[in-house]
Amino acid sequence: MKKYIIALDQGTTSSRAMLIDHAGHLVASVQRPFSQIYPQPGWVEHDPQDILSSQLGALTELILSSNVDTAEIDSIGITNQRETTIVWDRATGEPIMNAIVWQCRRTAPMVEAIASDAAASAEITARTGLIPDAYFSASKLAWILGEVPGARERAEAGELAFGTVDSWLIWKLTYGAVHATDVTNASRTMLYNIHEGCWDPFLLELFGIPEAILPEVRPSAGDFGTTANPGIVQGVPIRGVAGDQQAALFGQCCFHAGQAKNTYGTGCFLLMHTGHEVCASRNGLVATVAASAPGTVGAEYALEGSVFVAGALIQWLRDELGIIECASDTDAIARSVPSADGVFVVPAFTGLGAPWWDAEARGAILGLTRGTGRAHIVRAALEALAYQVCDLAQAMAEDAGMPPSVLNVDGGASANDFLMQFQSDMLGVPLRRPDNAETTALGAAYLAGLATGFWESIEELLALREGEDRFLPTFDEATRALRLAAWHEAVARVRS
Ligand code: G3P
Repeated sequence: MKKYIIALDQGTTSSRAMLIDHAGHLVASVQRPFSQIYPQPGWVEHDPQDILSSQLGALTELILSSNVDTAEIDSIGITNQRETTIVWDRATGEPIMNAIVWQCRRTAPMVEAIASDAAASAEITARTGLIPDAYFSASKLAWILGEVPGARERAEAGELAFGTVDSWLIWKLTYGAVHATDVTNASRTMLYNIHEGCWDPFLLELFGIPEAILPEVRPSAGDFGTTANPGIVQGVPIRGVAGDQQAALFGQCCFHAGQAKNTYGTGCFLLMHTGHEVCASRNGLVATVAASAPGTVGAEYALEGSVFVAGALIQWLRDELGIIECASDTDAIARSVPSADGVFVVPAFTGLGAPWWDAEARGAILGLTRGTGRAHIVRAALEALAYQVCDLAQAMAEDAGMPPSVLNVDGGASANDFLMQFQSDMLGVPLRRPDNAETTALGAAYLAGLATGFWESIEELLALREGEDRFLPTFDEATRALRLAAWHEAVARVRS
């Protein structure tokens, strides 16, 4: 009797394995951190073997520690940090260099050069839904093929395989039997045509990528082979794969147009489902492919916007300023004063993202007076997180022609009640925070479970939703407008 689905969540700083039961409950979870490699300022790498061993280690420990009989495991769902680029040798399974991580900026000059041709830039956006940027995989893959001696020739001869982290894990879990990715991960490479649903010959040519290196693209709830790696549990089908933000959208049960989620992690990722329509952004957001339930006819899409610095701002208060001891203290500290007293923190540590797109802007704390104390700064920092999400939501409302009527929230900082209330107040919409905050893992498990029939339908998944906290807006329109205007004034002062 199949009782569980295993979700593997391969994130930027750790690999996790989770056991999820038929009621959608998280039964057990194991997490393994791994090393970040910074070869030069602005460059970020991971050792693919580290990614793999931490992920397989977490999986094995999960099974051993939870005493699960492998016959009880229905299937595996994989979710992952997106865009991170790995190239390996098909014969040996050895990577030819470290993974280039999504945060790595080494290819910014390459992308600027390509995008300086306005026609090429417009084509990239029209075909992929993305804004040309080093964030996405295309230039990272081009860099590897150009810089690793012999790589291009070997790629053309079909000797090398490219993949985002999902593909790398699938290859290793199936012991080299399957070289595939899913539509959501493919849509983040900047090589995939999201309208046609295929690798795009124009983009492959533009970035100099041989087709022979690419994985096959499959639906997110689909067949990705079965585990055959001798080091791990054998014969378990892999049936769900999605990039982590699309997995969270699915895990939040945002299945239809207009439904949105925001994940408060190191940064924030706001995604709104746009149904079968690709919504072209005029406000600096990107269009991306959403994960679909099996049997869905035609691709589904989402609009996505990200805030670069969210939880990272709270870490900065703790680690660099030393004005808080731990992140969870910020809730009480913020409430200890009636307002931020005119203080604004603009966390433009690495520039400003959507809707500003100002790479040269830098952070600032504004409005200091002799009476300003640490509680005002902490409160202003939490408020800054919410203001940034408001700016994204506003951009999204303009692009999609409708604001989300409810915002589903998850991620570390969503546990902060002060922040959630202020977010709801400033957005003017209710927030919904599910008790089971592991929405990313849940999304991957849902996809796998729908593919195998462990769960019958998305209606059944909706019925699994249990407790949740709701935050209702209390500010009137005028208060919201006044505060947003003050925030925008602060933003204007840090812009280049
Ligand atoms: O696009 C990058 C995103 O997928 C990374 O997510 O949660 O691993 O930081 P996370």
